[in-house]
Amino acid sequence: MQARFVTFEGIDGAGKSTAVRALAGLLDERGIDHILTREPGGTAVGESIRGILLDRRSEISPETELLLIFAARQEHVLRVVRPALERGAWVLCDRFADASYAYQGGGRGIALDRIDTLRDWVLGTLRPDATFLVDAPVELASERLGRRGDAPDRFEVEAQAFHERVRATYLALQTREPERIHRLPAQWTPDAIQAHLSEWLTSVCGGAA
Ligand code: TYD
Repeated sequence: MQARFVTFEGIDGAGKSTAVRALAGLLDERGIDHILTREPGGTAVGESIRGILLDRRSEISPETELLLIFAARQEHVLRVVRPALERGAWVLCDRFADASYAYQGGGRGIALDRIDTLRDWVLGTLRPDATFLVDAPVELASERLGRRGDAPDRFEVEAQAFHERVRATYLALQTREPERIHRLPAQWTPDAIQAHLSEWLTSVCGGAA
């Protein structure tokens, strides 16, 4: 069976991690080799860049933000994502390039063709085989973030309007690529999310355990 590259997206607080854990558990049950990784991050240098990006003391322009994210992505794709797929392991990635369109494009207002240029440079033809968009209304997501209790990062402190633009961009991407991007409503229970992912997995790999 061919290894798949699966990404998870959503606004901050939507509940992506529940979906990532659920799919990882289903792969474990079937004995399918996989890695869990995230962006920005996934390599030592990428995690350092993540630190800069999330630090509220960082004063960086939207363009620098975008370039740093793609610098981290370059390392991640080169050292982690491609090697895993080449050895036959599935890659489950918490955020990937769609987030750059949603946050830096929709949120920060960077022209999408600039993002296309970086994507083509860094990714070539690499694209996720499937993406799960955990879609939450902004109010629900910020309530969930508030309940976590940790200090909000540089993205989480953005105004509601920013998060509305990010969400709208994600939904527009889903409308444009409904075959790849699956919407999971954040209001679903963890069991419902797991059932949906299980059905999807069966459609991809067949019923065999
Ligand atoms: P996130 O993955 O939500 O981590 P946590 O669950 O620990 O809060 O945080 C990463 C942040 O990075 C998130 O706010 C969105 C941002 N981001 C971008 O702005 N562009 C990108 O391309 C990526 C991958 C992430």
